Amino acid sequence: MFFPIYVDPAGPQIVHIGEPLPQGESEAPELEGLTAVLPIRRNGDEGRWQVSPGELRSRLEQGRVRLGRQTNYGYVINYLPDGAYAAVLSDQFSITGRAADGSLVAVGARDTRRVAPTQWKVASHNASEQGTGLLSQFLPDRKFPFPKSLYAVEDALRFFVESKPDALVLDFFAGSGTTAHAVMRLNRQDGGRRRSICVTNNEVGPAEQAALRARGLNPGDEKWEALGICDYITKPRIRAAITGTASTGSAVEGDYRFADEFPMADGFQENAEFFTLTYEEPALVSLGRRFEAIAPLLWLRAGARGQRIGEVSLEGWSIPATACYGVLFDTSAWGAFVAAASSREDLTHAFIVTDSLVEYQQIVSRLSPALATTRLYADYLRSFEINVRTT
Ligand SMILES: C[S@@+](CC[C@H](N)C(=O)[O-])C[C@H]1O[C@@H](n2cnc3c(N)ncnc32)[C@H](O)[C@@H]1O
Repeated sequence: MFFPIYVDPAGPQIVHIGEPLPQGESEAPELEGLTAVLPIRRNGDEGRWQVSPGELRSRLEQGRVRLGRQTNYGYVINYLPDGAYAAVLSDQFSITGRAADGSLVAVGARDTRRVAPTQWKVASHNASEQGTGLLSQFLPDRKFPFPKSLYAVEDALRFFVESKPDALVLDFFAGSGTTAHAVMRLNRQDGGRRRSICVTNNEVGPAEQAALRARGLNPGDEKWEALGICDYITKPRIRAAITGTASTGSAVEGDYRFADEFPMADGFQENAEFFTLTYEEPALVSLGRRFEAIAPLLWLRAGARGQRIGEVSLEGWSIPATACYGVLFDTSAWGAFVAAASSREDLTHAFIVTDSLVEYQQIVSRLSPALATTRLYADYLRSFEINVRTT
């Protein structure tokens, strides 16, 4: 195991593996222009390589031998043990090529089952550059305190939805809308159809509040609300991201970076709907006069796809051709509703307005079991009460 490995310093690269030196000999035969590396220990003693010349030659061929830094005795030579080589050949890694010295270059395959580490130190996650700086490309005339880096949110989401192209991502403190933006990027990267729901209040920052009050304005005033986070930042940012047009009206400047690089002005193919949460008068709702205020909730519940049923139909039921759900407003029209629903394979949901559980169950029993059904009380609002004790 005491044999010379010849390195061409010009590479540097291993070009030849010699034969073991005879007992008592410690000088390798010279080969012109090449450096002979012998297994000499740090203290100068003669050592031994861990594999024979034949084995080393075959490992060299396999790309398992790598030339390290230069030392007083030549070069450090690393070779990949059998276990590590087997791992490199397994699906834990993918081989992307060979280095200049002929050694394999492999990258760890992404394992979606792995748990995200608690601390990440990644340049693209810098909130000043890729949060505040990036947001100002979309909203050059506006400021939002501490938006997250778009790429940090993108990377965080990727952990959970990479293999879920139909995922629904909810951010109930959406702020500047980074989450919606990141979901759009993920979709573009793999052709996914992930959706996101972003909820945010419309608060105005403390400094801005003081300035508005000094001008005699109060919360609820149109000019006050227009400067709230949702109206002033979240919606315009999502609009600008999709259209590629900044809040100032000009094309967004700059390119996206990292996982998918393209001009921000290209925008995305996504659709967005904006809703404002309101407080409804129960009396008006129970008279069926405020169904349009409830309508977006039903549409969201049914998957936020296709046409929305926006008003109470005079026929007593509605299943528009381009909607994926139906609403039965008047149970006396159940026959026509059931017949229409059974002819539509694309329906996913049926809402049935009735205060009677028995009536609801009877109608459900006539609908396809594949259809998800929801009972709505005649005063609608009760249907959406969550954790509220009713008398
Ligand atoms: C820390 S920020 C989110 C930042 C966001 N990740 C981004 O990158 O822009 C939290 C946001 O939640 C909003 N918020 C606070 N209280 C809320 C509430 N009760 N309901 C909805 N949104 C709220 C605030 O307006 C604020 O913009």
